[in-house]
Amino acid sequence: MPATIITGLQWGDEGKGKISYLLCRDADCVVRFQGGANAGHTVIVSGKKLKFNMIPAGSAAGAMPCIASGTVVDLDEVFEELDLLRSLGFETKFMISRAANIVLPIHKKLDAMIEELRGGRAVGTTRRGIGPTYSDKALRAGIRIEDLLDRNALMDKLEILKKVHDLEIENSDKLIEYGNRIKPYVGDVELFVNNLLDEGKKVIFEGAQGTLLDIDHGTYPYVTSSNTIAGAACTGCGIGPTRIDEVVGVMKAYSTRVGAGVFPTELFNELGERIREIGQEFGTTTGRPRRVGWLDMPLLRYAVRISDVTWIALTKLDVLSGLDKIKICTEYDLRGKTVEIAPPSVKLLRDAKPTYIELDGWGKMTKEDWKAVSERGWDALPDEAKTYIETIEKLVNKPIKLVSVGAEAGLEVMK
Ligand code: IMP
Ligand code: MG
Repeated sequence: MPATIITGLQWGDEGKGKISYLLCRDADCVVRFQGGANAGHTVIVSGKKLKFNMIPAGSAAGAMPCIASGTVVDLDEVFEELDLLRSLGFETKFMISRAANIVLPIHKKLDAMIEELRGGRAVGTTRRGIGPTYSDKALRAGIRIEDLLDRNALMDKLEILKKVHDLEIENSDKLIEYGNRIKPYVGDVELFVNNLLDEGKKVIFEGAQGTLLDIDHGTYPYVTSSNTIAGAACTGCGIGPTRIDEVVGVMKAYSTRVGAGVFPTELFNELGERIREIGQEFGTTTGRPRRVGWLDMPLLRYAVRISDVTWIALTKLDVLSGLDKIKICTEYDLRGKTVEIAPPSVKLLRDAKPTYIELDGWGKMTKEDWKAVSERGWDALPDEAKTYIETIEKLVNKPIKLVSVGAEAGLEVMK
């Protein structure tokens, strides 16, 4: 499977980092194609916790990292994470698209300012300047990587940007310095990746955030400012749609959401708190507690549909261990009508009453127990866990081929 897209099926934080790491072990290249340092991808390798915000997490498995034009780039993060890769002993072959827009300090300030202005209706952004950077890009006023390599072009563009924002713009010396540091890595990522695919090389497109945070296909306005669905790999990296071989949808064994917005299956009780603690559901980027709830099939069916998912990787199954009962929302009751697949419209979801089925849980399991299960494979899973997985497969009508049962690589079961 030479071209594989990894996409989140919920509100982000599905555990895409680990799945990307696993799929990248025999890949040649891994590409970030949307979003910016709002993403937080964690990988644990040989007991070491590695956090990535800009560089694709799959690079920790040795695949060459690329950042394509559809992203908004925080260069401080890029340099920091390149150092991290170097400290791990990876030769730092890395390429960043000359066309990617960069996040300036002014964008972060604006992000925070707009959030304050929204008051009670704040989106709960990561304040990483994502929205304002994409907005300048759409205005055709953004600063691209290639502009950092050309002082005159940069000055002209900064002049315009100053007028657009009527605010202090950072000094250009710093940007020229960034240009000098990034210069060895600047290239035509889009052509490079297409050529790799021609040669039959394996490329992983590492999505960030999740379907329900997509600016067009998510719970607008409580979304991020990029397209997060599988199709965004095509636009964000200049890959023709017919070149994609498979789409791996990553979903967590329950739902979480960080930031504001509708969440039909949210848990407001002690159980929710317990899952938050056990699952360590606190934002990687911001440290904020994540909201927790049961699986939501109407939204998952929508996500699977919109990205035409080939197979599913189910993550964090271990977190649900020791629960007496586990619920799944199979459909909504929407003003008397049964809804099995729901577009994530805030208006619609506000009135959706989830209908649940209840499954038996399985007993408490230690990390060692899960390790033993991972070594022995699918048959070693507790029967109730198998039933839970198979029920999800049936409800969403897609195969679950990989089940992650712990943060570290090695704690997973293939089916
Ligand atoms: P922004 O992307 O910083 O503009 O934030 C917009 C919304 O997307 C907020 O609700 C954030 O919490 C959410 N968000 C952005 N990136 C991620 C992510 O990587 N995981 C989970 N939520 C995210
Ligand atoms: Mg994350």
